[in-house]
Amino acid sequence: MDQDLESIKQDTLSALDQAQDLRAWDAVRVATLGKSAPLTQKLKELGKCPPELRKERGGILNRLRDELTQAIETRKVVLEERALNEKLNAEAIDVTMPVSVTAGILHPLRRTVEEIIAIFGAMGFKVAEGPNVDTDWFNFSALNIDENHPARADHDTFYLPTKTLDGQQNLLRTQTSTVQIRTLLDQEPPIRIIAPGRTYRADHDATHSPMFHQCEGMVVEKGLTLGHLKGCLVDFLRAFFGIPHLPVRFRSSYFPFTEPSMEIDIGWNRKTGELGGGSDWLEILGAGMMHSRVLANCGVDPREWQAFAFGMGIERLTMLKYGISDLRSFYEGDVRWLRHYGFSSFRSVALHEGI
Ligand code: DAH
Repeated sequence: MDQDLESIKQDTLSALDQAQDLRAWDAVRVATLGKSAPLTQKLKELGKCPPELRKERGGILNRLRDELTQAIETRKVVLEERALNEKLNAEAIDVTMPVSVTAGILHPLRRTVEEIIAIFGAMGFKVAEGPNVDTDWFNFSALNIDENHPARADHDTFYLPTKTLDGQQNLLRTQTSTVQIRTLLDQEPPIRIIAPGRTYRADHDATHSPMFHQCEGMVVEKGLTLGHLKGCLVDFLRAFFGIPHLPVRFRSSYFPFTEPSMEIDIGWNRKTGELGGGSDWLEILGAGMMHSRVLANCGVDPREWQAFAFGMGIERLTMLKYGISDLRSFYEGDVRWLRHYGFSSFRSVALHEGI
């Protein structure tokens, strides 16, 4: 090999050696094999070579080119591997590091719903659902509240401008009692359900919000009595408030969909706000044996099946349990408030730990 070719070879090999990353490597590749590289030029000039020398010179040049191409490829593999290792080292995850997680906070209303589900779940209840946009029939008529019933006016209903295909007026449900009807039409008794969810009434002040939450309950079984209703709700209230001897009072009342109907109060001290003590009563939920007409409206024979139902306000339960005084704070989305009143989303409700 002449001096010229020898120095091309040596220069290329040492430049490759010095190339420490893929960018420098690529520069060497272009300088060695690119269009204006000396070796490429020499290959182009082969044509000018006298024929008797061309073959030998061509062989030498091509061998050199193959050798350098090989060296360049080998260097590339080395540099690529090095780059990969550097990247892996830089991104290494230390699995022994303590976790740093920004935990979400559970809204107290959600916590109450989970507690209600846990307590009734232990009594064999399942969660049922219904739509927020419902119809006049589900919200009123099927619940024995006919068109001229005064209770319709009491509910401050948000009526929607639409009707269903079969002419039913759409509205935002004013009570979760709609889910009683939907469940009765959907499932065969025996049934034990609770239905927590949103409800809506056109009412807005410090103690009312146009959107609020209720939880309905319904049990349809054979041979059910008022005694079962009372036992079930006393157990629930004592478990929910964590007060084993919480006084509970059943007071006669009226709801169109139950007969007899009652309102349920718990004992408290009005002055101190302490639950369970004192001689005052605080109304907490409505309940009753389901009206035979409601069962019949849903094709359930009231002579065969007995049923009771109850409904409660989730905001009210939450405010009482955690001493939250302003209803509006629930919906303001103030993170500082949430940090104070909220719950860790990692701690699920566990009945055996107490609620
Ligand atoms: N739906 C009633 C309300 O919004 C609450 C209620 C009372 C539900 C008695 C019931 C019940 O299931 O039996 O005021």
